[in-house]
Amino acid sequence: MLILAIETSCDETGLALVEASGNLSGRPKFKILKEEVASQIAVHRPFGGVVPMLAKREHQKNLPVLYAKLFGQTPAAEKKLWAKIDLIAVTVGPGLEPALWQGVEFAQALGKTHRKPVLGVNHLEGHLYSFLLPGSSLRAGKKFLPAIALIVSGGHTILLSLKDLKTWRRLGETRDDAVGEAFDKVARLLNLPYPGGPEIEKLAKSLPANWTDHVNFPRPMANTKDYDFSFSGLKTSVLYYLRDHPFDKLRAGKARAEVARAFSNAAIDVLVKKTLRAAKETGAKSLMLSGGVAANKSLRAALKKEAKKSCLPLLVAPAKYNTDNAVMIAAAAYLQSLRKKKYPLRARGDLSI
Ligand code: KG4
Ligand code: ZN
Repeated sequence: MLILAIETSCDETGLALVEASGNLSGRPKFKILKEEVASQIAVHRPFGGVVPMLAKREHQKNLPVLYAKLFGQTPAAEKKLWAKIDLIAVTVGPGLEPALWQGVEFAQALGKTHRKPVLGVNHLEGHLYSFLLPGSSLRAGKKFLPAIALIVSGGHTILLSLKDLKTWRRLGETRDDAVGEAFDKVARLLNLPYPGGPEIEKLAKSLPANWTDHVNFPRPMANTKDYDFSFSGLKTSVLYYLRDHPFDKLRAGKARAEVARAFSNAAIDVLVKKTLRAAKETGAKSLMLSGGVAANKSLRAALKKEAKKSCLPLLVAPAKYNTDNAVMIAAAAYLQSLRKKKYPLRARGDLSI
């Protein structure tokens, strides 16, 4: 099945052409023919976060440009490609509704013009299934189900228990801020630009490996018996720490980097601890990690290290498929069509998994 996928849920405009094959009992395979992502970071950066109406405007501008890159400049090339496409897939949620609508309307217009079916896709399923994409750590022939999946992004922090590729149970989620949101907010407290996750990672890594930590933040809900998370208290701890240790002094030495490292260590600790406990208690055969925060090398390394102790492989896509992209939307569309799952073709900001 050749899928044209469209992603516009937040601040990345993504388009991809992906060939999908295989079935639910085996391992579905994906061949990426073309992919384009246009980032809007520079547009939102002066505002310290994503401005929904600006995101909408940028998607509107970017979609035809990316389309031209994918389909070539001549009508003949365009027509030839359309003859081979089986399905148009578009993210319908969750995300920013003005942004989502741009993708949905673009997909509907293409569907009508070229007489192709349009499938609404759940963005979170895109993250979830990203471990199936080329270059992931999934190894052929190894049994990996049942699994525990941790989805960590700017809007979500969710733990799922997967029985198979179409059946899962939600174990827990964040009760307040998503972990990516906490990274972004703490970055702002440290005067780092948006998006804060990669900036905090860079700053934390700037300390020498043998550096002795002087700062330590609490691990909220790390020992509660449920599988929920909470990151807003951790962010407040950073706020109070910075209030009590004035910024000028922080700037002088390595103290800013220490705060970044202490914060990310605390957040990562909680994520790793709860994910491992979920794996143990459900008898999982593997761990899956996805979403923008999965691009964090320290999180990947910490989860991998703990998973190894329990002989569990960590299944994670290459970093470029952790942050928002259309390739994962094509994968989710294929899995959705195998599961015969359809979402209505309208933007749903609060769609859940
Ligand atoms: O999945 P994603 O691209 O968009 C949403 O669906 O939300 O995730 C974006 C989030 C942002 O909060 C960003 O700061 C965070 O992922 N992020 C990171 C890193 N790269 C992106 N957080 C920590 N470390 C990173 N390297
Ligand atoms: Zn996302």
